[in-house]
Amino acid sequence: MTAYTDLQQSLQAAPRTWLVTGVAGFIGSNLLETLLRLDQRVVGLDNFATGFRHNLDEVRRLVSPAQWARFDFIEGDIRQLEDCQRAMQFRPDANAEPLPVEHVLHQAALGSVPRSIDDPINSNATNIGGMLNMLVAARDAGVRSFTYAASSSTYGDHPALPKVEANIGRPLSPYAVTKYVNELYAEVFARCYGFKTIGLRYFNVFGARQNPDGAYAAVIPKWIGALLREQPVWINGDGETSRDFCFVANAVQANLLAATSESDAARDQVYNVALGDRTTLNEVFRQLRDGLAQHGVPAVVEPQYREFRTGDVRHSQADISKATQLLGYAPTHRFADGVAAALPWYVAAFAKNSSAQQGS
Ligand SMILES: NC(=O)c1ccc[n+]([C@@H]2O[C@H](COP(=O)([O-])OP(=O)(O)OC[C@H]3O[C@@H](n4cnc5c(N)ncnc54)[C@H](O)[C@@H]3O)[C@@H](O)[C@H]2O)c1
Repeated sequence: MTAYTDLQQSLQAAPRTWLVTGVAGFIGSNLLETLLRLDQRVVGLDNFATGFRHNLDEVRRLVSPAQWARFDFIEGDIRQLEDCQRAMQFRPDANAEPLPVEHVLHQAALGSVPRSIDDPINSNATNIGGMLNMLVAARDAGVRSFTYAASSSTYGDHPALPKVEANIGRPLSPYAVTKYVNELYAEVFARCYGFKTIGLRYFNVFGARQNPDGAYAAVIPKWIGALLREQPVWINGDGETSRDFCFVANAVQANLLAATSESDAARDQVYNVALGDRTTLNEVFRQLRDGLAQHGVPAVVEPQYREFRTGDVRHSQADISKATQLLGYAPTHRFADGVAAALPWYVAAFAKNSSAQQGS
């Protein structure tokens, strides 16, 4: 039995109360789905800046009515300290007893490097100001654990591969600055207040409910969307750029293991969350195209190549031994497994949108 299967059983036997910020987003809604399936009580906080009500509606359809009844949603903004405080002691109605949160999974942020280059002020306000509010509110509420979404962008211009947590470079974007400042605040909260947190440096997470649309879409959902619409797929550079693409179930696992870790050595740390593999963009394209062909999507397309994008690092690959050793993290999905699990969701979502458009 792995540490994760063990944990799932013990959570189901003795449910806990969780706060997920960014719950209407991609990773947040996947955390919500897993927690509700495990019969946990969940409070979710989101302001729908980049998340969607339809993500929450979809989770409702995927869990039982009894599991959904254990979820309370607060439409609120992490840039407001009162919203963060309210989420820690949520009262479903004025007469109800407050629901003290035990585990915080802080995911809310404005993602995307290009978005932060276009609008550094808003990325800063949400990602740094919001995280600071969440830390203060969680510290004051005396939660059992605080786990937050850090980022592989913190490796910046450090050339070494694979990436090891202790060796980081200089940030290459405002987004990377914000995620690094999150880590600095987390460290300082341990030092000044004894409030120990865990940061998870996600590497290119992908899976169901990751938005394929908009200027700031991530590469995998963007390409799936283009292939489904039979539009061109653009590769920046020669396609030999590589990333450690991580299926969302692995990121969910890392969150649950981190949040519930009882080991003092595991706290006040950051961890890489990925596979420890490297997949080139050319290979990603081939796997998506061939995978979609199995769903009847025309497979004759070739990608179009254009200039490298400024600021993109050439290769990224995580060393995951720290998470493996200290948290018991053991990814369940390699890249191809993740693609196979994610594609049916995009195919179904595309079919639903197309029939809705034809009907309107
Ligand atoms: N997806 C990845 O590959 C990846 C990689 C590294 C780090 N991360 C981090 O993981 C976290 C989740 O990312 P995601 O991919 O699910 O993105 P997402 O955009 O789908 O989710 C972010 C959620 O946060 C919410 N949000 C934004 N500003 C808010 C605010 N002021 N108050 C309340 N809610 C707010 C959004 O509405 C959205 O629902 C983010 O912190 C992101 O920086 C993601």
